[in-house]
Amino acid sequence: MAAGSDPNALQGHDDSQADMMQEQCILVDSSDNRIGSETKLNCHQGDGILHRAFSVLLFHGGYELLVQKRSDDKITFPSVWANTCCSHPLDIPGENEDAVSGVINAAKRKLHQELGIPLQQLEQIDFQHIGRFQYECRWDSIWVENEVDHVIVAYVNKEEIQIDPNPNEISEARWLNVGEVWDMISGKGIWKDELVAPWFKLLYNEFLVEFLPELPLPRDDVVHFGEVDMDGNSVVPGQNLMDTIALHREHVEEVIMSSLDKMKQERLHGAMTHLFSGGGKRLRATLPRLVGEAVGEAHAGHYTLGASIEIIHNFTLVHDDLMDQDPIRRGLDAVHVAYDDSTAINAGDAMLAVAFEILAESTNIDSDKLAFLVRSIGEMVRNVADGQQEDISFESRDKVSEEEYIAMITGKTSVMFETCAGTGAMLAGASEDVVRNMESWGLNLGLCFQLMDDLIDITGDTKTLGKPAGSDIVQGKKTLIAIHALQCGDDMPYFHRAYGSGECSDEELLNAVQELHESGSIRYAKDRAMHHHSLAHQCLDKLPDSPAVSVLRELTDFQLIRIN
Ligand code: IPE
Ligand code: IPE
Ligand code: MG
Ligand code: MG
Ligand code: MG
Repeated sequence: MAAGSDPNALQGHDDSQADMMQEQCILVDSSDNRIGSETKLNCHQGDGILHRAFSVLLFHGGYELLVQKRSDDKITFPSVWANTCCSHPLDIPGENEDAVSGVINAAKRKLHQELGIPLQQLEQIDFQHIGRFQYECRWDSIWVENEVDHVIVAYVNKEEIQIDPNPNEISEARWLNVGEVWDMISGKGIWKDELVAPWFKLLYNEFLVEFLPELPLPRDDVVHFGEVDMDGNSVVPGQNLMDTIALHREHVEEVIMSSLDKMKQERLHGAMTHLFSGGGKRLRATLPRLVGEAVGEAHAGHYTLGASIEIIHNFTLVHDDLMDQDPIRRGLDAVHVAYDDSTAINAGDAMLAVAFEILAESTNIDSDKLAFLVRSIGEMVRNVADGQQEDISFESRDKVSEEEYIAMITGKTSVMFETCAGTGAMLAGASEDVVRNMESWGLNLGLCFQLMDDLIDITGDTKTLGKPAGSDIVQGKKTLIAIHALQCGDDMPYFHRAYGSGECSDEELLNAVQELHESGSIRYAKDRAMHHHSLAHQCLDKLPDSPAVSVLRELTDFQLIRIN
């Protein structure tokens, strides 16, 4: 029996619904690979166990959608309004082999059992599989959903399709037009006092709303929403992650500050500590430790390692703001503004030196590991310099390919995450294979990080970002969003006016961003970010589950929802 499951959980529930709790669901990993089976009961209790599910949407005329209210007898999410039909493929022939045909077969079985649609009619319907998403949502202290949900859409003629709802499953079925669906999702009008399924809100917003009455192109990746509440909003995003980072942050901070105290020249010391007083997420500072805990023996040496890489990260920020001529960082004047250009260059140089010095000096790092760390971090700095130079050179080039852009951000950003993860694992005594796997996780995490950074650069506001919003557009940076938009023709007047202009008002930026939404450029870059997010999860799937691995999963998910 699954951890946390309660043998009395079915007492008092409807018999036929309780019987169905013995059906075998298909267990999957976060990339939707089938890894076993478990009763529906155990999949939905305690923390739940990740399993495969499907959601069907039957449309009439492209826009009218058949929705249902789940019966009061349902054990999970009773009396909740949802899309046409949702359930699970079972561990039975026809449903447990190929994922796509399996969920379509399961969909037919349940459309017949729940809505009473005759099997002959179901055989005539062309079911389209358009994507998959992961989410977790708690109903009450016992029951929870924790699934990878496959989205299946079909167009039918509502005059022809026969519907005879099974009252044990459904208390009401209704066709809604597009406005009514929108009201339902946003809880307006007659929907004010009704509950609407969180999975329906997530899938409608993610997969359909932009495309109807056309269908979107089918998507292969699994969209990860993590844990959501009944409104489909993230549950205290990454709270566990934030608590864990806060815990380690204090220790790394001490190492950072005492290391920078080596500097006796007051103005130089001030310039080197300046950015640390403005905040910052300390992702690179804490990453080695988080990885160390997930794959081996974490120890005080991980704080020194994190401090070293964070100091290097801050050195690159000091020089980056000078190169990008950005005046604000972490809500403060950038170092070259608060001090002057010469001091900013000098401060960066000294920070780089201190970072290597503290590694060599540390009594917590075994001397036989030192050469690996120094080589990895040296290689990292060299890659950052390459990437930064490419970023600068792209500004004056007419055309940059997606591959060139990815290679550039690999250098300027992602390699740093790769190094944090690889060195953190190595210092914890992990095997070479595990070190490689963690490097691959870090690299994909870093690619997702930078793609999202480009996105929030134009969709965020300066105050939240702590750096000037829209700076990439104004400077004509070849981000993936811009590369896509530049291929969309001249139909984007605001974007073209702002792009590379050197300055642009908030209103012009807003209009340009609107055009980037309409051209699909933002969607395009987000999809690529999600692709790397999913590759990162695949690396974590190779590790045995533990609380420390869950923190790395949260950190992976956090990249998609961070706002600064
Ligand atoms: C900023 O990194 C530099 C980039 C590579 C985009 P972060 O967004 O991690 O910056 P801080 O450390 O939290 O300020
Ligand atoms: C920063 O890249 C990369 C490094 C500091 C190495 P960006 O120039 O895109 O980062 P932001 O937007 O200034 O933080
Ligand atoms: Mg830059
Ligand atoms: Mg910059
Ligand atoms: Mg940027």
